[in-house]
Amino acid sequence: MARPKTIYHCTFCGHKSPKWLGRCPECGSWNSHAEEADSADTQASWRKSLPPFSMSSLADIPESATQRTPSGILELDTLLGGGIVPGVAVLIGGEPGIGKSTLLLQLAGASASVSKKIVYISAEESLSQVKLRACRLQINAPSIFLAPGGCLEQILATLREFSPDILIVDSIQTIYSEEIRAAPGTLSQVRECASALIELTKAKGTALFLAGHVTKEGALAGPRTLEHMVDTVLYFEGSRDRELRLLRCFKNRFGNVDEVGVFLMGSSGLKEARDPEGLFMNHPGSAGPGAALTATLEGHRVLLAEVQALVTDCGNSTPARMVDGVEANRALRIKAVIDRYTRCAIAGKDVFMNIAGGLSIREPAVDLAIAIAMISSYRSVQVERRAVFFGELSLLGDIRRVPQCERRLLQAKKLGIPTAVLPEANKKECDKIKGIEKKFIRTIEEALQTLF
Ligand code: TYD
Ligand code: MG
Repeated sequence: MARPKTIYHCTFCGHKSPKWLGRCPECGSWNSHAEEADSADTQASWRKSLPPFSMSSLADIPESATQRTPSGILELDTLLGGGIVPGVAVLIGGEPGIGKSTLLLQLAGASASVSKKIVYISAEESLSQVKLRACRLQINAPSIFLAPGGCLEQILATLREFSPDILIVDSIQTIYSEEIRAAPGTLSQVRECASALIELTKAKGTALFLAGHVTKEGALAGPRTLEHMVDTVLYFEGSRDRELRLLRCFKNRFGNVDEVGVFLMGSSGLKEARDPEGLFMNHPGSAGPGAALTATLEGHRVLLAEVQALVTDCGNSTPARMVDGVEANRALRIKAVIDRYTRCAIAGKDVFMNIAGGLSIREPAVDLAIAIAMISSYRSVQVERRAVFFGELSLLGDIRRVPQCERRLLQAKKLGIPTAVLPEANKKECDKIKGIEKKFIRTIEEALQTLF
C-alpha cells in the first residue's frame, strides 16, 4: 500500500510545502506551517455527476427561520444581534484560561429555560470537572446534556438522533475525525470537523457554539481558518490576572460587528458589567501627571477610559517603548508628531503607556488623549483631571474630526465630566450640546496652549 502523502500548509496564506518550514516564504509568517494529508489523495467531488439542487423561491422561505431566541445573557445577545438564530455557527475564541468554557456553560444554563435540549460536548474536561464548574456557577438544569469525548462521527450521530436546540463543542481543537490521519488540533482535523459540524447543524437548525483556543499571536492551527466558516466570531480579550473580560465581535452575519460585551470574572463565573461606561476611569484625584481621560466608541457604547503614560529619561542607547492597550505604532507616531510640532523633545525618551483597567483601544480618536498623557508626563504637569480628550492626530500635528462626537460628549456629561477638549472640525454638531464646557482645538500646539 502506498504511504499516505503529507504536506505542510501555511495556516495564514495556504502556501503548500512538502516539508515543514519555520518561516512561510509566501507571507513571511513564522511557525505557521501545519501538517495535513494531501488533498490530492482524495477524489475531487466535482468529477462525480450529482443531481442539481432543489431550489426554494425567496418568497417561500418562512421568516421563522431567522427568528431569534434570547440566550438570557444580555451582553451575549447584543453581540449576537439580538439572540440566537437557529442554525447559527458561533466561534468563541481566546487564550486558554480566559473563560470560554465558563461562558459556554453559563450560556447553557441561561438558555435552559427557553431551549428544550442543550448538548454540551466536553472533549477537554471530564464530566465531573464540568459538573464541578456547574456547581460553582449554580447551574443544574435537566435539559443540559453532557457528553465526553471528541470523536466527530459520534457527535454527528448524537446530533442526528438527539436534535438539540443548541450544541456546544468545547473545544474544536480536541475534536477529531476517525477518517483523517492527523492529530486533533491540526489544520486538516479542525477544518474538516468544523465543516461537518456546521453543515449538519445548519440542516437541523441547531445553534452551534465552538470554543477555540488562540494564543496571543493568534498562532495555533485552526481558529483563523475557522473564522471563514462560521457566521459569528467572538474573541475574548483581557488577561487572566484581571477580572475584566471583553468579548469582542469580529464577524457577524446576523448582526452588528464592532460590538463588545463587557464581563467581569468573579468567584461565581462571568458577570455582565451593567454600567461599564465609567469602569475604566480612575477615581478623581488619584493620579499624578501622565493621565488623560478619553471617550471611546465600543459598538453601541461610549466608554470613558484613562490613558496613562510615563515618559522618562532613556537609560539605554535605544529608547524603550512599552505600550499596552493601544497600538504600538500609533503611540510611536504620536511621539514623533509631538517631538516635531510641539516644544517637547521626547524623541529620545523612554515611553511606557497603558489604558487603566486593561482596556484596549483601536480607534484613532484616542490620539489626542495619548498625546496629552505623554506631554503631561514629560512636563510633569498634571492636566485637568476632569476633562475628556478626543481627536485624531494627523502627521502634520492637526487634530482631525472624530465620528459620533455628540455621543461621546453626552456620555462624558452623563458621567459628570465638566470639560471636553475636542476637534474644531466637530464644532458644528456639538455646539448645541449644553451642560459641558467645550474647548475646540485645531492643532496639537493649540491644545497645549489651552491646557498648560
Ligand atoms: P475556563 O472557562 O475554563 O477558561 P477556558 O475555557 O477559556 O480555558 O476558566 C477560566 C478561568 O476562570 C479559570 O482560571 C478559573 C476562573 N474562574 C473563576 O474565576 N470563577 C469561576 O466561577 C469560574 C468557573 C472560573
Ligand atoms: Mg476550557
